[in-house]
Amino acid sequence: MNKPKILVARAIFPEVIARLKQHFEVTSNPADEIWSKTQLIGKLQGHHGVFTTGGERIDAEVVSQCPDLKICANMAVGYNNFDIPAMTAAGVMATNAPDVLTETTADFGFALLMATARRVTESEHYLRAGQWTKWRYDMFAGSDIHGSTLGILGMGRIGQGIARRGAHGFGMKVIYHNRSRLSAELETQCKASYVSKDELLKTADHVMLVVPYSPESHHTIGAAELALMKPSATLINIARGGIVDDAALAAALRGNRIAAAGLDVFEGEPNVHPDLLTVPNVVLTPHIASATLPTRLAMANLAADNLIAVLTGKEALTPLNSPLNSRLKRTLDQSNPAQAAPDNVA
Ligand code: 8YV
Repeated sequence: MNKPKILVARAIFPEVIARLKQHFEVTSNPADEIWSKTQLIGKLQGHHGVFTTGGERIDAEVVSQCPDLKICANMAVGYNNFDIPAMTAAGVMATNAPDVLTETTADFGFALLMATARRVTESEHYLRAGQWTKWRYDMFAGSDIHGSTLGILGMGRIGQGIARRGAHGFGMKVIYHNRSRLSAELETQCKASYVSKDELLKTADHVMLVVPYSPESHHTIGAAELALMKPSATLINIARGGIVDDAALAAALRGNRIAAAGLDVFEGEPNVHPDLLTVPNVVLTPHIASATLPTRLAMANLAADNLIAVLTGKEALTPLNSPLNSRLKRTLDQSNPAQAAPDNVA
């Protein structure tokens, strides 16, 4: 029996490719080339599934031009690279990789917060540049984490992980804003109080962004929001580029409108707004919040598990949609109208 064909769009762990090869005919990308949309569409011809890593856009054009494509499995919890309504309408399943990265990403949110508030990278650059000649009472004086107020915008699983670290580990007062309020039980666990977005921006010493990207959340933080924040406040973005207006943020940092920012994600990344590269009071990291090897491996295995499950006729582990008229079901019904054979999808 022919094995289903899958395309792995970026270089990933060799052991995950080996696992996938037990179930599929695999086209991989060991050179880790970045394909244009036209190239991706070309490569996807005749493939039943695609393993994406968060950067490959799957939209109406891709699904209509790749009629064999039945499932797209993202190795990321965020899925703004997927046009879910277009995929659902075309009968293409979508999955993401939640949960396995929650604690690692929350750890990083905290690392970035501490590096930003305590001016870790700025002071290291000073030292490396040979500028450290004497002690001074206010040299690289930052702001405290312990006992301060942490405002979390976006209180999903990662936001809750950050709240627990702040409240239980550092004695922070935690306030949050989210589309929907958490249950009383979760609020107690996280020791977090619900407030309006404006109150959060006005009262937090540290603002942490963990909201998913969508057209509605584009520029959630722009000049007007930055103007509400305390001049002593820090802003941390581990969510997605585009949540913050990077040009407005660079201007606010340059004018000391807020004290500092820590950014792991950028509008148009891997390009970074040039103004951010020249202001000193910002810590910049290249989208590494989930980057520990065990976590990245767990994310890759979860994406692989989703491909294996769906293309062998089982339920997806972490589905993002449930197309009524799925291409997979149509193929199974056609290949054996009496009793759809779950593993015969090729
Ligand atoms: C990924 C992320 O590393 O999971 C997410 O949504 O932002 C990161 O963990 C990134 O999307 C590339 O896969």
